[in-house]
Amino acid sequence: MAIRFSEPVNAIKHSDTGDILKLIAQPDMISFAGGLPAEESFPAEQIRKATELVLQSDSGKALQYGPSLGYDPLRESIANRMNRMVKTNFTKDNILITCGSQQGLDMLCRLFCNKGDTVVVEKPSYLGAITAFNLSQVNYVEIPGDGKGMIMSELKKALDTHDVRLIYIVTDFQNPTGITWSRERREEFMALVDEYEVPVIEDNPYGELRYEGEYLPSLNSFDTKGLVCSLGTFSKTFAPGMRLGWIAANPLFIEKCDLLKQNMDLSTAPFTQRICAAWLENFDFDAHVQEIKNLYKSRRDAMLSAIDEFFPKEVQHTYPEGGLFIWCTLPEYMKSRHILQQCIEQKVAFVPGEAFFTSEGNTNFFRLNYSCNNEEVIRVGIRRIADVLKAILK
Ligand SMILES: Cc1ncc(COP(=O)(O)O)c(C=O)c1O
Repeated sequence: MAIRFSEPVNAIKHSDTGDILKLIAQPDMISFAGGLPAEESFPAEQIRKATELVLQSDSGKALQYGPSLGYDPLRESIANRMNRMVKTNFTKDNILITCGSQQGLDMLCRLFCNKGDTVVVEKPSYLGAITAFNLSQVNYVEIPGDGKGMIMSELKKALDTHDVRLIYIVTDFQNPTGITWSRERREEFMALVDEYEVPVIEDNPYGELRYEGEYLPSLNSFDTKGLVCSLGTFSKTFAPGMRLGWIAANPLFIEKCDLLKQNMDLSTAPFTQRICAAWLENFDFDAHVQEIKNLYKSRRDAMLSAIDEFFPKEVQHTYPEGGLFIWCTLPEYMKSRHILQQCIEQKVAFVPGEAFFTSEGNTNFFRLNYSCNNEEVIRVGIRRIADVLKAILK
């Protein structure tokens, strides 16, 4: 029997990142490979109480089908919080609730791109965005950064030479590099976007998790033409298992996304949306975020100081002011994949950097996650990686 699968499915490239994650799922392995929030950060008891409240007061609506745009009080809370934290000027009409920001990535690429169209991404970029966009069978132009965001002259060159349909960036504590776009770069970027009138996805799952420095405004706050679609999520500040994210954009884009949403899954679960709204109403979100920040800041500091103490000087690394990741650059001749094999023998793991690029090569990078291990374990793990690196560099 010859079953024929669709072109987008046939076009899915096998990535061995999943295989690596399986390989390292051993009980005595120290893994810096995942990108998950720490389970001890989930407010389970508060969620139990919020769930009870919802079932007592609103069980009919909570368990019924719901509006495709989302639950209004939750949309309202999100708009208010964005206005306070990242200086936007939104109402609930600018917000559509999604099943995590991952769904937003899929929807927005479908919204703007046809097969073969060009999407501009950062070099490197978030792997899950690349895999979501791949389903729309787009082509990529990668723009390198300089530690403060994309290099603007390179972006301009791409906009002059390609019919760019969409730009995708992670402005705050990027996955995988941990880098944050400076305020000036955000303004320069928006001036170019304004000139070329290209839609932008500003994906910001980590922005709330800032351990030092000041919060920076969303690209939306510099957007005069309504070109920016911001993606947000409760995955890193509440619980990823609730699968709650959102798209914040101008009402026309929201209206179009709503059409997609109706045809994709009717709506995000009304039950989890109401639990989240009840939790926001009855508990202190700011205090909860502060607790998470305290937990991760201490883990970040432990990893940075262990790297400084143990890693050979040939290895460079980023200094994230927030988020979950540190990005390491090896001398060009070194291959992080080979090093990973030796590290796994020493019971420590990371993600090789290649998966975060749309171009070939780029073999001398790796990503470290610090949210899921305590300070002591982080120190032991970094020392193990350092020993492998030192033996190779000798
Ligand atoms: C940059 C980025 N965007 C989007 C997501 C997807 O998050 P979620 O779908 O849980 O909101 C992640 C998850 O790690 C991420 O790192």
